Amino acid sequence: MTEQQRVLLIIGGGIAAYKCLELIRRLREAGVQVRVILTKGGAEFVTPLSVSSLAGDKVYGDLFSLTDESEMGHIRLSREASLVVVAPATADLMAKLANGLANDLASTALLATDKPVIIAPAMNARMWLHPATQRNVATLKADGVTVIEPGSGALACGETGPGRMAEPDAILSVILDRLQAAPRPLAGRHALVTAGPTWEAIDPVRYIANRSSGKQGYAIAGALARLGARTTLISGPTALNAPAGVARVCVESARDMLAATEAALPADVAVCVAAVSDWRAAVGGGQKLKKNGAPPSVELIENPDILATLSRHNRRRPKLVVGFAAETENVVAYAQDKLARKGCDWIIANDVCHEKGVMGGECNTVHLVTANGVEDWPTATKEDVAARLAERIAGALTGVA
Ligand code: CTP
Repeated sequence: MTEQQRVLLIIGGGIAAYKCLELIRRLREAGVQVRVILTKGGAEFVTPLSVSSLAGDKVYGDLFSLTDESEMGHIRLSREASLVVVAPATADLMAKLANGLANDLASTALLATDKPVIIAPAMNARMWLHPATQRNVATLKADGVTVIEPGSGALACGETGPGRMAEPDAILSVILDRLQAAPRPLAGRHALVTAGPTWEAIDPVRYIANRSSGKQGYAIAGALARLGARTTLISGPTALNAPAGVARVCVESARDMLAATEAALPADVAVCVAAVSDWRAAVGGGQKLKKNGAPPSVELIENPDILATLSRHNRRRPKLVVGFAAETENVVAYAQDKLARKGCDWIIANDVCHEKGVMGGECNTVHLVTANGVEDWPTATKEDVAARLAERIAGALTGVA
């Protein structure tokens, strides 16, 4: 970072506020100037004195302080920063920001800013999972706010579940990424990514699934978002947190995934990474199958093909449609066949035979198959494959590659 970068940190009222002291220290070590708004609730958990000692600056707290307003009004506070970070972002702060309320210094500064906003929510698991909070999260993401999803585990309230604020390290790296002002060639574009397995109900308690972890698709969604794309991730059931800056829509079955994908159109690029179940039970749901003598026979019927549907969309075909080919033999030949059969522009072919450990693993060896030929990419982590693919997509959409 060449010129001095400034972060406006808004500390909300939650036990996780103590982690912000470490975050301030780490930001300053990285050469970032930190200016802090400590909300009334935040001041119940950390003292203005500890915050200002670490930040090396006065702490702002009261909207109606005449001295503050004459020295540094809320407008200037939010505009002079390179970006605004809310940590911990309480349910209340998120609700205010999602609805445009401005009745204290923190919410007023958030409404007045023209800078990127990053929030790190922290709260009780039920509060996080409440439909109202989830609605607000979706609104904030759609407004372009980067949400660093909370982790799961033991919470200060004694309950267990999602709601723990991300660790200072993770928040720091998202902030530094943004400050380094990486080129954002996909700014203004919409990217759609499908990821994870689908679950197809056999009866109310059993389902057909597969070994997909969702890691590769999530990494691609994250990489596209880092290049500036507004990114929608349509995800089957996985154990992963949504990458920062990505709007996730959770689904179970192939039919739900298709509906969510079509609902998210138009998009500039669609990357279909999901391991969609090819078949579903002809009669799913109903009552639980009982063990009445002979094992039941489950009739399977074919699921809709999301990739082929997008590739052949009449009115709203994304400019670039990318599919994956999970193969266990004849990897490139089968991928070329899939490219033609599904009508997409590119196929990323990967060998998912058991010995390669791709499914659920950290690495991937892929081949980029297009109408122009085949490129063999070296074995790399799924994150690196994602970054390389995102760069290629940016090149194709912006006409550079
Ligand atoms: N795909 C999809 N919808 C389906 C099946 C597959 O969108 N119902 C997409 C996958 O996301 C992937 C590509 O199609 O991008 C290829 O998936 P793959 O499982 O390799 O191919 P299949 O179509 O299932 O063909 P096969 O089982 O014959 O290999």
